[in-house]
Amino acid sequence: MATRRQKTRISTLPLAAKAQYHKRRSARHGLGVFAVRPIRAGTRIIEYTGELISHDEGERRYPTPPDGHEEAEHTYLLQLDDDRVIDANIGGNDARFINHSCAPNVEPMPAGDHMWIVSVRDIRVGEELAYDYAIELDEPHTPARKRRFPCACGARECRGSILKPKYQPYHRLVRAARKRWEMA
Ligand SMILES: C[S@@+](CC[C@H](N)C(=O)[O-])C[C@H]1O[C@@H](n2cnc3c(N)ncnc32)[C@H](O)[C@@H]1O
Ligand SMILES: [Zn+2]
Repeated sequence: MATRRQKTRISTLPLAAKAQYHKRRSARHGLGVFAVRPIRAGTRIIEYTGELISHDEGERRYPTPPDGHEEAEHTYLLQLDDDRVIDANIGGNDARFINHSCAPNVEPMPAGDHMWIVSVRDIRVGEELAYDYAIELDEPHTPARKRRFPCACGARECRGSILKPKYQPYHRLVRAARKRWEMA
């Protein structure tokens, strides 16, 4: 009989040392975070810290500009769960500088009131840490809207936009990580 594999709790995954990564200029955008020592798959690299607020409060603080208007200065909001987002403008650390990739090597994984950036594969020295922002707008992702969120990740499978089509599954490494490790 097949036995179901027990999931590992995020809070029990090994923690990276601060000396394993650092923040510097990125060809993708502004600042990014890079590995300066090898990082094994399944490592809690850094916590995404900030103020925990409701989605409504996030929208109040950083309203989405209507179509035809310039994108607001990028914000440092990350969804923790259905009710809460983390505002890294308040109390944020270097995790807020992690850029997006359509072929991610890390994934934000919630554990209670905390969000950890966890490696979904081994990461080599010099690689930029990046997760799939997977932004899904309520409105249809028209070509014009995709152009408002361009992606410069350079991956072979780059979508050209940080937006993720609703029908498109997450990257296989992210799906595997979510199966392996307990979320919440
Ligand atoms: C949370 S910030 C990431 C840190 C940012 N590089 C900085 O220096 O503050 C998110 C913003 O970075 C930009 N960004 C992140 N990943 C990107 C990518 N792959 N291509 C283009 N822009 C990206 C987008 O403007 C996005 O709104
Ligand atoms: Zn991309």
